[in-house]
Amino acid sequence: MDAAARIEASLADAVLCAEATGSPPRLAAALRHAVFPKGARIRPRLTLAVAAACGDDKPGLSSAAAAAIELLHCASLVHDDLPCFDDAGTRRGKPSVHKAFGEPLAVLAGDALIVLAFQTLSRAAPCAPERLGPCIAAIGDGVGVPFGIVAGQAWECEDRADLSDYQRQKTGALFAAACVAGAAAAAHPDPDGWRLLGDRLGEAYQVADDLRDAVEDAATLGKPVGRDKALGRPSAVLQLGLGGAMARLRELSEAAVAAIPDCHGQVALRALMLQEAQRLVPRKLAPAA
Ligand code: IPE
Ligand code: IPE
Ligand code: MG
Ligand code: MG
Repeated sequence: MDAAARIEASLADAVLCAEATGSPPRLAAALRHAVFPKGARIRPRLTLAVAAACGDDKPGLSSAAAAAIELLHCASLVHDDLPCFDDAGTRRGKPSVHKAFGEPLAVLAGDALIVLAFQTLSRAAPCAPERLGPCIAAIGDGVGVPFGIVAGQAWECEDRADLSDYQRQKTGALFAAACVAGAAAAAHPDPDGWRLLGDRLGEAYQVADDLRDAVEDAATLGKPVGRDKALGRPSAVLQLGLGGAMARLRELSEAAVAAIPDCHGQVALRALMLQEAQRLVPRKLAPAA
């Protein structure tokens, strides 16, 4: 099975578990709506790419880690779209979860997805029990406080936020978790050595998202545009201008590729990262890149 198929299969298993008999049907439907159909799935692809570069000798665990990372990402999108955050009515080209199911179920679906991520990991424990602790720790760090998604989103409630701290926490941290968990699932001797790659790629990804928010249209992205300006969010485009944000994207993408640690799959991973970095450049700005 290739990486994309492994990710979809693991996510399908996880969502099926949540839909078991006894689950409130509308909540179960909201979970499915949040996870399928897929978006970029870049975070779980990163987990599996890092695991592959480190030997991937326990694919059951790396697949579970990849699914957990994506479930947490989907949870963050459900909560991010709520009226009390970005108030976005569409996501991945369809109504956001609160538009389709109402706010109470969107809050609960996000909560349930966060828990489902850790349930999914625990179900993979028999593959390699001794590797589970480091995987859970890495993934928890990517979503919690003080440096994960929750912390990053909380900067929106402060009077002042440093752009780089905000972007590293709300987006970079889960990319870092994706890398560290992939390495931990494959028993790399220094999983934390993979953090920098994820941090930089994740920050680049958020700068690219800020650029798309400024220059693309809602139909292309499948979500509202122009939100950063309307909501007064710290944004690379608003702080650095289009040219400055493009330069920052290039700088972060190069730094990400340079941060790939030594491993037997380094050459293949470098090629993949260069390809991903190229895809980050918004189509409308590509000729100038
Ligand atoms: C959107 O992430 C939120 C950001 C952190 C930029 P993605 O662009 O990866 O969203 P999906 O999963 O493809 O919908
Ligand atoms: C989302 O950031 C980061 C999350 C933790 C969900 P944005 O609010 O900029 O992402 P989009 O543009 O809604 O996808
Ligand atoms: Mg937001
Ligand atoms: Mg948003």
